[in-house]
Amino acid sequence: MRTLQVALAERSYPIHIGAGLLDTFPLAEQVRGNQVMIVTNETIAPLYLERLTPHFSGCQCDTLVLPDGEAFKTLETLESIFDALMAKRHSRTTTLVALGGGVIGDMVGFAAACYQRGVDFIQVPTTLLAQVDSSVGGKTAVNHPRGKNMIGAFHQPRLVLIDTDVLASLPQRELAAGYAEVIKYGLIRDPDFYHWLETNNERLLSRDTEALSEAIYRSCDNKAQVVADDETEQGNRALLNLGHTFGHAIETATGYSKWLHGEAVAVGMLMAVNMSVRLGWVDAGLEAGLADVLAQWQLPVATPAGMTPDQFMDLMSLDKKVQNGQLRLVLLRQLGEAVVTADYDAGALRQTLEAFCGT
Ligand code: NAD
Ligand code: GLY
Repeated sequence: MRTLQVALAERSYPIHIGAGLLDTFPLAEQVRGNQVMIVTNETIAPLYLERLTPHFSGCQCDTLVLPDGEAFKTLETLESIFDALMAKRHSRTTTLVALGGGVIGDMVGFAAACYQRGVDFIQVPTTLLAQVDSSVGGKTAVNHPRGKNMIGAFHQPRLVLIDTDVLASLPQRELAAGYAEVIKYGLIRDPDFYHWLETNNERLLSRDTEALSEAIYRSCDNKAQVVADDETEQGNRALLNLGHTFGHAIETATGYSKWLHGEAVAVGMLMAVNMSVRLGWVDAGLEAGLADVLAQWQLPVATPAGMTPDQFMDLMSLDKKVQNGQLRLVLLRQLGEAVVTADYDAGALRQTLEAFCGT
């Protein structure tokens, strides 16, 4: 087992990474009260729920199985979590355990932030995306029909438990979607990692467990550093959103159902790099290399058919990075150096949108 620390003073917590931790990690020791509710979904429950429940045999342990999918990341589903907690009389000292991908993690985290004004929660991420990104850093939310993650809170978990073995059951499309976020860390702040990923691409594609575990560790290390420096996104944490402004527009336009978040981020990152090339900040070779890697992972390198530049502009105007009516974007100054800025040539943005929308 390898352990990283998210250094946030009294809200600091560990990220434990290793094979088989679902069975071997002493989870019960992390629970402060005598009540636990494990929240998962109908896909993950038959695979892993029974591996977690024995940890909490010494206390009241309830389970809640939600429907699966981004379309259920709503206030309505959140209410069903509160209903279950109330029905089972969970008190302020309860601990929620999020067993699942980013959808479960974000929703359970938000439920923990709100229930009785805040209770403990533990992240047990089961997708690559959740292991390298969403489980770390305390961003919790549900979607609004008009915008992604629009209703939420910052609420840090007490710990993140990453069992790398659970990736064995993850469909390849989901693994690839998570891999987009792995590449992101290399692009925005860790050129050595980016080159390591290039060198090890074949091993990663073939699910070499040692390579995947290293990629998870280095991604979490990057994320932990960013979060420790800027917990509530007053500055540099926004750099983690490379490609997300374009990607969120795609997710909203496609009703959160056809494209996976990581897929939308993948083409969004390519659009951000394309725009950075147009601004003369990075070399076209970086864009070509990125497009090549994304294609090898069968990640999209084009926007959804029918989306227009105007539609992108309309949806992106709702982005959380908009300040005083100005759309700030995360762009690359060079490999490993990202900026969030509204100081760009709007013509370059238009050209990127037109190029990707084929207009
Ligand atoms: P997800 O939670 O929908 O999981 C993807 C699919 O894989 C689901 O069908 C799920 O049931 C299934 N699954 C999960 N683990 C499995 C396993 N081990 N084996 C087999 N199937 C498994 O999607 P995701 O990609 O994990 O997360 C996407 C969400 O994360 C989005 O809502 C996005 O907004 C959010 N997100 C949040 C943050 C953050 O900082 N909070 C960061 C990035 C993304
Ligand atoms: N995934 C973006 C963030 O955690 O800030």
